[in-house]
Amino acid sequence: MRLLIMGAPGAGKGTYAEGISKHFGIPHISTGDIFRQAMQEETPMGILAKSFIDKGHLVPDDVTNEIVKERIQKADCLDGFLLDGYPRTTQQAVEFDKILKVLEIKLDVVVNLLVDESLIVSRIVNRRLCPTCGKGYNLITLKPKQDGVCDDCGTELYQRKDDNEETIKSRLSVYNEQTKPLIDYYNKQNVLLNVNGEGDAKVVTKEIIQAIEEF
Ligand code: AP5
Repeated sequence: MRLLIMGAPGAGKGTYAEGISKHFGIPHISTGDIFRQAMQEETPMGILAKSFIDKGHLVPDDVTNEIVKERIQKADCLDGFLLDGYPRTTQQAVEFDKILKVLEIKLDVVVNLLVDESLIVSRIVNRRLCPTCGKGYNLITLKPKQDGVCDDCGTELYQRKDDNEETIKSRLSVYNEQTKPLIDYYNKQNVLLNVNGEGDAKVVTKEIIQAIEEF
């Protein structure tokens, strides 16, 4: 199963991708996670990515395309993958189509999450993450048992630097201008599955899995 999950910042891509990828037994590949890991390790790519991400801008297409091209050719992707947050521009989508053609593989479904913008801002400013195990929390909807501490490994939680109201405005306008046109792009390829991204996370995940299976 080869899947993409797309939607505005904070739409729940990462949250739902976890359950979907587990269900289908495929790796969850998030370009945002790849960049954050490289930023933490201060690799040359991480330093470059940081200069864009901290302002809410997109990392250049050529850098992003190359990362995805390499990643989906790894052994764990032989039976499929779930790409989260890629492609995000028409240039990336066109380049990705070329990559798929060379590899002689096809996309099965592109999941597009529909979430109201007012909910998105609240989800993002209240998100907290564990730097050790990567587990995600939300101060309103998914609180840790003990304030500021990861339930699973006891590490102090942190807030992403790009999760502030100023940067969110920029991320949302980048999404509306550069990523939203991909809804039409994939609709024309007959692979688009629009799903409601609002509601209880476990229920929504189940609904998405069922919709993918029936697609
Ligand atoms: P990325 O990490 O992909 O960020 P994003 O697209 O802004 O999305 P988020 O991670 O903010 O949100 P999400 O949709 O995954 O929501 P989540 O599940 O966490 O990218 C970061 C940056 O990297 C980009 O801005 C860009 O600069 C760069 N980048 C990445 N890919 C790129 C590309 N292809 N090209 C160029 N640059 C690229 O949920 C959010 C919160 O809501 C959480 O707290 C969660 O617990 C909560 N929540 C989610 N669902 C529910 C629910 N149903 N009920 C209650 N709470 C919920």
